Amino acid sequence: MSDLDDPVARYYDANTKRFLSLGQGKSARALHRAVWGEGVESRHDAIHFVNELIYRDMERCKADFAVDLGCGVGGSLLYLAQRSSSLSGCGITLSRVQAQISAELLKRGGQEDRIKIVHGNMLDAASYENLIPVERSGPLFVFAVESLIHLESADQLFQTVSPLLRSKDRFAICDDFLSSKLPAGQWETPMIGRWFDEYRRGWKVHSLVTPDQLLRQASSHGFDNIARLNLTPYLELNRPRDRLIRALVALGRQLKPHGEWWSSLLGGNALQACIKEGVVEYWYILLEKRDSR
Ligand SMILES: C[S@@+](CC[C@H](N)C(=O)[O-])C[C@H]1O[C@@H](n2cnc3c(N)ncnc32)[C@H](O)[C@@H]1O
Repeated sequence: MSDLDDPVARYYDANTKRFLSLGQGKSARALHRAVWGEGVESRHDAIHFVNELIYRDMERCKADFAVDLGCGVGGSLLYLAQRSSSLSGCGITLSRVQAQISAELLKRGGQEDRIKIVHGNMLDAASYENLIPVERSGPLFVFAVESLIHLESADQLFQTVSPLLRSKDRFAICDDFLSSKLPAGQWETPMIGRWFDEYRRGWKVHSLVTPDQLLRQASSHGFDNIARLNLTPYLELNRPRDRLIRALVALGRQLKPHGEWWSSLLGGNALQACIKEGVVEYWYILLEKRDSR
């Protein structure tokens, strides 16, 4: 499949520069959400909150090599490299534009020796060739921030990644999940159904599962759950920019615009509504590869 045939690649190729210049995390090179969790005092801290969780979990298990699945322009890897001079890592992105931008950023930051980013599909075992060091002193730390939802199925990712990992290697996932608190069918009111549909179509969301469903899939591929954090209460909702986007989307519904930028506004606006309605939650989940003996 060529890049342009892949709707997710097309979406990020078209939108990444705009996300970086207008989004929440431009200076952080982040394409993920700000989280105003405990101890956060500034926007800088909020945008790096998930990066810092990853960094601390890496420290705790003494991992010194990170693998970022769906790495955007490498913002999380650059953060980790800045936090510790002994960390190195690699990333995979489906977007050719992101891979090009990350190459410039790594060069500018003098991090080319420590971080390698490739353009590829994380579901394709060939993307990992020569990326993961064979000799390693500590466990490997794999993470995926806001990229899992784009995959056809999370199960497919576990199937691809599991054979590459050894016992005690870690896998952190931070993403949107379906809320498990709602009884089946309760969220399928026409209004919520429309938000849900716009979120999925707008943001190219395919694999939305509950945290428990994800953990069952992970377990069947040899992963144990060692931590999980519900970060939903710490997300930003109803900021002035969110209200502006809501007004634009309302206007856009009459004008019926097309294109990837419109798609991102539609999806982001609908996600806010899904979170407010309690249908979608944002979780950080940490897994550990089980001893297979
Ligand atoms: C919302 S962005 C998050 C980027 C980055 N993790 C961050 O926090 O800044 C989603 C990322 O997932 C990547 N992605 C989605 N599906 C992918 C796939 N099958 N293989 C590799 N990357 C993928 C996109 O290219 C994009 O970089």
